[in-house]
Amino acid sequence: MNQGIFITMEGPEGAGKTTILHMLGELLTDMGHSVLITREPGGIPISEQIREVILNKVNTAMDSRTEALLYAAARRQHLAEKVLPALSEGKIVLCDRFIDSSLAYQGYARGLGMDEVYSINQFAINGVMPDLTIYFDIDPALGLERIASNGEREVNRLDMEALHFHEKVKEGYMLIIEKWKERFFIVDASQSLERVLEQTASKVYQVISREAASR
Ligand code: TMP
Repeated sequence: MNQGIFITMEGPEGAGKTTILHMLGELLTDMGHSVLITREPGGIPISEQIREVILNKVNTAMDSRTEALLYAAARRQHLAEKVLPALSEGKIVLCDRFIDSSLAYQGYARGLGMDEVYSINQFAINGVMPDLTIYFDIDPALGLERIASNGEREVNRLDMEALHFHEKVKEGYMLIIEKWKERFFIVDASQSLERVLEQTASKVYQVISREAASR
């Protein structure tokens, strides 16, 4: 039985979710919570190795189903080796991307079908879903502009997709949010970093109190 709280962050490229996730992690740690900050694909050596295969710019021959399976494989290992142990120790797990990324990117934008991608991911996650998912809402064109102007961020194989692909990703997310409304909290990521952090943190505090009251 999980005792911790599993929070995932989702959104198109350049939404700023990774920056916010780290800032939020610091706030929660300062408040005395035990926090694990991690990311997908990656977070542990096996999954970081899979990440390198998926995102390497030379791998242009990668088939879409292979891509979906590799994300699911990286997800399984990360969940089993890092996320589930942290949750059973009562930690707050802040994870940069999870199953919704596969549904939006592979299921919808690549056209594999959200149901198909959901079903291979069911095998990988075996019923584990986040308690809360924060969606960082940004116009994909603005997100890509932000990436282009941020010289420090590596440009990966998926970033190289055309704007149309990233617009489809956003459309996919909208369908996912419609389906799982109660799990999602949407933040307007075009606002200042301070505002985005403030709104994200206040939702997270609310969920922490709710979970504490229900246990
Ligand atoms: P990142 O840039 O947020 O680290 O994510 C890496 C890339 O992988 C990003 O382009 C989104 C993509 N991705 C998928 O397409 N499917 C997935 O399941 C995950 C976790 C990420």
